[in-house]
Amino acid sequence: MRTTLFDLQAMKQAGQRIVMLTAYDFPSARLAERAGVPVVLVGDSLGMVVHGHDTTLPVTLDDMIRHAAAVVRGAGRAFVVADLPFLTYATEADAIAAARRMMQQAGVQAVKLEGGAPIVPIVRRLTELGVPVMGHLGLTPQAQHTLGLRVQARQAAEARQLLADALALEAAGAFALVLELVPAPLAEAVSRRLRIPVIGIGAGAGCDGQVQVWHDVLGLYDGKSPRHARRYADIGAAIETALRQYVNEVQSGAFPTPAHSARMDQDELDRALG
Ligand code: KIV
Ligand code: NA
Repeated sequence: MRTTLFDLQAMKQAGQRIVMLTAYDFPSARLAERAGVPVVLVGDSLGMVVHGHDTTLPVTLDDMIRHAAAVVRGAGRAFVVADLPFLTYATEADAIAAARRMMQQAGVQAVKLEGGAPIVPIVRRLTELGVPVMGHLGLTPQAQHTLGLRVQARQAAEARQLLADALALEAAGAFALVLELVPAPLAEAVSRRLRIPVIGIGAGAGCDGQVQVWHDVLGLYDGKSPRHARRYADIGAAIETALRQYVNEVQSGAFPTPAHSARMDQDELDRALG
């Protein structure tokens, strides 16, 4: 049985911290699920960590659907959420069309939309139509050209607005909320005021759960890791070591061995070549 948004709600009520992790393909989704990750996010961060763009802005709905479908196939029990990419939910009609493709073609359980007051009516409409929506406030990377890439809502006015947006998203039917790069005490206060689970990234320990990016926690991204990330392994270095050995063994002739190869009767070969 797949995890549902009701399970996530129950986890908040029971004070059980919710773990969310991004994944972008079949094998990573399988590994996340086997490790006990209950919520897998197909983030538009894939534009950066998988496709090598500088921002998430170039990511298309087709990109997201292709990756999300692979994740859904890899994670049979996790709750799978996918980002709707930049400017694919600017109008109600766009949002409905995008969510429809994401749910029908990729088979995700929910979509995530960035932003506050301007998208509240869209969140309400999607929820009414049966599309579970996860909100995302604080640093919303799709708006990085207007917001910058810094900690958000440090001042009272901005913090008040963030709380108002969070409450409005909850009232509109959002089943959970991501808070990215906001001060820990504010994130904790928002988590307490909301009934829905609040999942933080760079938002301190007081949230109802945490989300991290696959490449950051595994040491797969050799760009600069964000300050909020913890590297639980250096898989990038392990891959490089293994690949260097592969290169050396092919170059030296140590690989492949007869055990990796198929035999043929000598007379069959002679007749073939003769
Ligand atoms: O795209 C992403 O990976 C995200 C998380 C960082 C919340 O939106
Ligand atoms: Na994202």
